[in-house]
Amino acid sequence: MMSLISADDGSWLRHLLGARVCFDEPMRRHTTFRIGGPADAYAMVAGLDELSLLVQGANRRGLPWTIVGNGSNLLVRDGGIRGIVISLGPHMRKVAIGADEPAGAVTVTAQAGLPLPALCRLALANGWGGLNFALGIPGNVGGAIRMNAGSVGGCMAEVVREVTLLDRQAQRLTIAADSIPWNYRRTHWPKDSIIVEGTFRLQTTDKENLKRAARQWVLVRKRRQPIAASAGCFFKNPSSQTPAGRLIDQAGLKGKRIGQAEISGQHANFILNRGGASADDVLALKRLIETTVAERFGVELEPEVVILGDERHA
Ligand code: EPU
Repeated sequence: MMSLISADDGSWLRHLLGARVCFDEPMRRHTTFRIGGPADAYAMVAGLDELSLLVQGANRRGLPWTIVGNGSNLLVRDGGIRGIVISLGPHMRKVAIGADEPAGAVTVTAQAGLPLPALCRLALANGWGGLNFALGIPGNVGGAIRMNAGSVGGCMAEVVREVTLLDRQAQRLTIAADSIPWNYRRTHWPKDSIIVEGTFRLQTTDKENLKRAARQWVLVRKRRQPIAASAGCFFKNPSSQTPAGRLIDQAGLKGKRIGQAEISGQHANFILNRGGASADDVLALKRLIETTVAERFGVELEPEVVILGDERHA
């Protein structure tokens, strides 16, 4: 696959980002699935100003760009991603605690690159309730907000107070949570906007109770969910009464393998990379699951995982 980055684009990127840009970077290094072909360029921005310069420059040069979070809900196809993949992960992780909140309330503002587990740890250590549902979700703050990440205990829509974006013109824009169209594992934003910061509304609560509840929840998750390389649940639940995992399980597909991709025997809505799986292996399993579940139960499953990039051409 031809890279869209010319020699001139390459020098511009190196000038702007120094060692924080790599070329032909395998996306399998940046996804929890450990799958994915190369990004033409992979940029790890140092902060907001640099992100603005990068996006404005890319727009001027007609280079496509794609923001990725922690890569934990992502399947990148084997041909990789054209243009610039931008990660806020390594460097945009600042946290600020709000002042002047009413008694019992706490607001925490976190940059999009902060891992959700780090935010959860901070909340637990301070006795701030509201985020226990997010324990064990590996995404970062930006990705978790964009996907409205959650579990049975809750979802981002319930704890986010406002979100700061960079819009298409690279201007900062703050949006109140109640004007965000939150959906089950999806949200909608103005085109080409980038989530750079989220503010969370939490409550001060009894630290020991909070920690006890957290420990229990982590144990439940460990029992139910596999730990091998995956992107978490692959399909959305068609409804809470008909979870995708149960349908795939009842269709007899647990343990089914194509290439190095395997449907977990522990939780049927997890597709695992057993070592060196290609995106094609996973996509073949995806089709098998979709057709089998449609034939058996008349239900059309919809992926929860975001699928990006080009197919591999011979
Ligand atoms: N089930 C089966 N067989 C299976 C898997 C599940 O029969 O192989 C049954 C279970 O027995 C249970 C029901 O399906 O009665 C639901 O299973 P579970 O409690 O594991 O929850 P889930 O609906 O499959 C959801 C989220 C998870 C989240 C868990 C825990 C979705 C698609 N999945 O799973 O989120 O961790 O609840 O709160 O909404 C993710 O988003 O990546 C993810 C893993």
